[in-house]
Amino acid sequence: MSDFTNGFWPLYVAIISLVSIAACALLLWVAGSAKVSVKAGQVSDNTTGHVWDEDLRELNNPLPRWWMWLFIITVVFSLAYLAIFPGLGSFQGLLKWSTESEHQQDVTRVRDQVAPLYAEFSAQPIEALAKDPRALAIGERQFMNNCSQCHGSDGRGSQSYPNLTNSNAGWLGERGAEHIVQTVTNGRMGVMPPMGAVIGGEVEISEVAHYVLSLSGSPYNELKAVNGKKKFAACAACHGVDGKGNKAIGAPNLTDDYWLHGRGEAAIASIVKTGKSNVMPAQASKFTPDQIRVVAAYVLSLSATQHSDDDGKTGEKHDKGDKGDKGEKGR
Ligand code: HEC
Ligand code: HEC
Repeated sequence: MSDFTNGFWPLYVAIISLVSIAACALLLWVAGSAKVSVKAGQVSDNTTGHVWDEDLRELNNPLPRWWMWLFIITVVFSLAYLAIFPGLGSFQGLLKWSTESEHQQDVTRVRDQVAPLYAEFSAQPIEALAKDPRALAIGERQFMNNCSQCHGSDGRGSQSYPNLTNSNAGWLGERGAEHIVQTVTNGRMGVMPPMGAVIGGEVEISEVAHYVLSLSGSPYNELKAVNGKKKFAACAACHGVDGKGNKAIGAPNLTDDYWLHGRGEAAIASIVKTGKSNVMPAQASKFTPDQIRVVAAYVLSLSATQHSDDDGKTGEKHDKGDKGDKGEKGR
């Protein structure tokens, strides 16, 4: 693949390269044998006539032989290099080598090596792979390289990046192999429209926020929550009448006290006012379908083995009696 926009520039670059090398060779040839011309009448003592520091004189000799040879070797090397490797405009070089093809060869070689293992994996359901230590080891590396920058190296996410170690209630979608494969392949976009205009002013928004807080057992103002409950009808279409969410459209459960976008009245009021669109980019171009099954198995194992109500790391807690003293973790 050429990076040039049209046929002129590669030619231009190639000509400049060749002319420069030719000019170097010419200079070498001329300077290699010539001596500084001695002015008429000057006694020729084989010096250039320059004198420094009273008596330092420069001998009028041609360039040293070893230096000449270095120069010649350099010129020959550069011509050979340009003939073999791509460097002369868009000429591919005799070897037709490129970083791209070398990388592609490496990728193909490694894929061939692991093909038997993946063949074995593809015969098993993802749920079984989630218990296979070999699949988990590969899946973990894939996760670290491709997912951890957003979801954290332990999969617990951070604000606006979902915690993947949650039990099903804390997931935006239906926790399971199918949902994970689908999300990794196509990405996903969670959109909540701005609801400020529907709910009313600051007071009404604060009231509905307190009602939402009451659903999850967070600290809330009772009077505001009672008023807010009426307004919640506008939210129920997506979050459900009971606030338990709707996984089909990715509307989060508001009763589980896991807060993807931040804990507390201010965070809720802000999301009601301005809405939210949260995007996970599709990852399909980075993986083969078999690799996606393996990383999905690893993700599935995260939520199967641990439940994240132990240290409140992402501001999550399931214990309804605990009044929000663990704080939220921002980015
Ligand atoms: C650029 C950041 C980013 C990367 C990289 C990323 N994700 Fe995500 N992921 C997100 C965001 C943001 C969401 C939430 C989208 C939404 O709100 O609907 C998400 C959602 C998910 C979900 C759905 C969670 C739920 O609660 O339903 C899964 C599963 C998931 N990601 C797995 C992965 C895996 C596996 C990888 C690596 C192959 C990955 N993600 C890479 C940002 C990312
Ligand atoms: C059209 C559907 C829709 C409506 C109506 C809607 N929401 Fe949402 N809401 C969503 C979606 C989808 C998300 C998740 C966005 C994402 O993927 O990050 C969300 C997220 C939230 C969150 C963040 C939850 C968390 O874990 O941090 C809160 C709080 C919330 N909504 C409250 C409300 C309230 C209150 C109303 C009513 C005033 C409302 N929503 C109306 C779809 C909706």
